[in-house]
Amino acid sequence: MHIAVLAGDGIGQEIMVEALRVLDMLDLPDLKLDHADVGGVAYRAHGHPLPAETLNLAKAADAVLFGAVGDPELDSLRRELRVESAVLGLRKELQLFANLRPAKAFAGLERLSGLKPEIAGAIDLLILRELIGDIYFGEKGQRETEEGLREGYDIMAYDESEIARIAHVAFKAAQGRSKKLCSVDKANVLQTSALWRKVVDEIAPEYPDVELEHMYVDNAAMQMVRNPGQFDVVLTGNLFGDILSDQASMCVGSIGLLASASLGEGTKGLYEPIHGSAPDIAGQGIANPMAMILSAAMMLRHSFADEDNALRIENAVADVLADNVLGHDLGGSASTSEIGDAVVAKLSAG
Ligand code: IPM
Ligand code: MG
Repeated sequence: MHIAVLAGDGIGQEIMVEALRVLDMLDLPDLKLDHADVGGVAYRAHGHPLPAETLNLAKAADAVLFGAVGDPELDSLRRELRVESAVLGLRKELQLFANLRPAKAFAGLERLSGLKPEIAGAIDLLILRELIGDIYFGEKGQRETEEGLREGYDIMAYDESEIARIAHVAFKAAQGRSKKLCSVDKANVLQTSALWRKVVDEIAPEYPDVELEHMYVDNAAMQMVRNPGQFDVVLTGNLFGDILSDQASMCVGSIGLLASASLGEGTKGLYEPIHGSAPDIAGQGIANPMAMILSAAMMLRHSFADEDNALRIENAVADVLADNVLGHDLGGSASTSEIGDAVVAKLSAG
């Protein structure tokens, strides 16, 4: 189990410490951790947010455990050097096209959600976000119009093979859950979405047991707060998935609770919380490490087929929340390390 540990910026460093303590606690055989710089930390040390050394390590490893990137002091760098390009570059270089973002209510903790408890309690969904295409990776730039006005542009595009490969992952995920798939797009306005919908429809007959529905993204955003329990697997593109997954996290209770797995064709994956580096609270020891810890659980499940330990971690986190050990993001006062302590204690108690 060779793992590239890329803690990155801001709270990434703090939460990674706790995730590694949890992994350590499990006594996994053959665990080999290699650390490398990424993001602003890497830019400051090596002049690039994704140094070749880091990329090579990520390529060689069986899995990448990723904290966060983001550094407001470096926001004025040109796009290729911006710290966000590190995570985008890793996703692209490793061809991790499928981003799994599960969102599930924690039993007894419905009050943590901004939604009414009976509505929040029904949340159990999986957002399947396409991760290496769309407007994120299309041609982009800034130019001058004929009238001499500054203009920014970003091209949104998906070819049919990109749509098909993520659609297959989504249909298969739906088969393993409650067999309901909702594909989210903006086909009433966007050509990209019109093709998306067509390709998904063409693939649907291969999965006759899955009930497929299409939904416009604006409606999906509304339905996500009106009745999130209606969703099981949500298939969508890169941009819409980015937005809807932040929204889903607050429906559960906090962005500090949601983990993600980014997968390609093989078992290699990159595992990261869906939140960012949170510079406003970095260095204070108050970040919630749960999303990072849950990302490590997803790593065990998806890259190492270790469902037992993945579930152990997930249950430990749920138990700690049920014990009311709540971080600042959830209105509690538990520190980063206290939350880590509590999860480790649950694990050692079996
Ligand atoms: C995410 C983040 C990233 C994204 C940023 C940091 C580039 O918001 O993983 O959701 O937009 O994909
Ligand atoms: Mg995001």
